[in-house]
Amino acid sequence: MENGKDFGAVNRASQTRAVPHRLLHLLVLFLGFCFIFSVVSVYMIRHYGVNNVYPTSFLPCVEKEPIGLERWTRPPPKLLHSMSDEELFWRASLAPRIKKYPFNRVPKIAFMFLTTGPLPLAPLWERFFKGHSALYSIYVHSFPSYQADFPSTSVFYSRQVPSQVSQWGKMSICDAERRLLANALLDFDNEWFVLLSESCIPLYNFTIIYHYLSKSKYSFVGAFDDPRSVGRGRYNEKMAPEVHITQWRKGAQWFEVNRKLALFIVADTKFYPKFAEFCKPSCYVDEHYFPTMLTIRAANLLANRSITWVDWSRAGPHPATFGTADITEELMKRILENNTCIYNDQPTSVCYLFGRKFAPSALEPLFLLAPKYLGY
Ligand SMILES: *[C@@H]1O[C@H](CO)[C@@H](O)[C@H](O)[C@H]1NC(C)=O
Ligand SMILES: *[C@@H]1O[C@H](CO)[C@@H](O)[C@H](O)[C@H]1NC(C)=O
Ligand SMILES: *[C@@H]1O[C@H](CO)[C@@H](O)[C@H](O)[C@H]1NC(C)=O
Repeated sequence: MENGKDFGAVNRASQTRAVPHRLLHLLVLFLGFCFIFSVVSVYMIRHYGVNNVYPTSFLPCVEKEPIGLERWTRPPPKLLHSMSDEELFWRASLAPRIKKYPFNRVPKIAFMFLTTGPLPLAPLWERFFKGHSALYSIYVHSFPSYQADFPSTSVFYSRQVPSQVSQWGKMSICDAERRLLANALLDFDNEWFVLLSESCIPLYNFTIIYHYLSKSKYSFVGAFDDPRSVGRGRYNEKMAPEVHITQWRKGAQWFEVNRKLALFIVADTKFYPKFAEFCKPSCYVDEHYFPTMLTIRAANLLANRSITWVDWSRAGPHPATFGTADITEELMKRILENNTCIYNDQPTSVCYLFGRKFAPSALEPLFLLAPKYLGY
């Protein structure tokens, strides 16, 4: 028994010594295999690309979702993309021919900010948007050199679209507006598209603005026939036959259009070349291109007035800008009271939903007056 025990003990000892050797051997073999495998993989990926080396069914732990409707209807997860304008506009111009959406679509307002850089009135907008995230989307176009640094809690966080330098009065500003529209069109939920600047503020709470836009029979594009030299005088006969002088319109660039008109703008290849070539300063193309083009395409869908209030009472080529000292209860009343206009073919006193131009210094007094006068 004792011997047996000893023998067993010795045997066990030699076994335990032998096992590490065998393990080590296996380990070395395994590492060698790993090394060769990775070298071969890297080589093959370099030459054939990832997708061609491993058939997708081989990829472990990647559950393949069945392709559902969301693939076509979901907005792109990121606003930054690598599409050129030509590619973007083509993609944005794709539109369904069946009017009824086969999914629960809650139509949203796309707020499109055309800026040079920062949004100094952002805190006011944040308060305006609070609690309505299902009903709006935001898009910001600024100079490409500007780096936005909104915190991740901001409604403006990561809402910047690929941008290019744009100049007032030149075609590049219309390009920027079309770029904003095209990016916003990629989200099928967007139904109304509002162009704003960094100096704009909302004049009513979100509920009222949403109701006003969603119940309107017409889109709010300023468009009128101005017989003066600053109107018809800017028309160039070379624009015929696409544009006749009786179709020539003028209007402030701050528009609101529905999805149908947004598609007309993004898909336009007929009028664009005419305006690009024959409407150069002192023909300010941003005051004529969209109003004229939309009047030709869909006059019956236009309200022919802008919903952005601006003060032209001070003389000069530019409207008044309001700073700290200007923001008084009297100014709020002046903007909101004594207006009359037509809404859905009926007279109304609510004519302007947005106002401009407000300087960064106006933020603090506006913030204090907004609850009482602007409803947010
Ligand atoms: C928006 O303003 C209207 C009119 O002032 C008011 O009746 C409504 O309660 C406001 N909505 C919200 C969500 O504050
Ligand atoms: C807007 O003007 C066009 C003509 O340019 C006209 O056909 C249209 O009916 C006007 N819209 C409204 C709501 O009056
Ligand atoms: C609005 O019009 C009334 C009557 O004409 C006038 O008394 C009042 O001062 C006006 N309000 C503003 C803010 O201009």
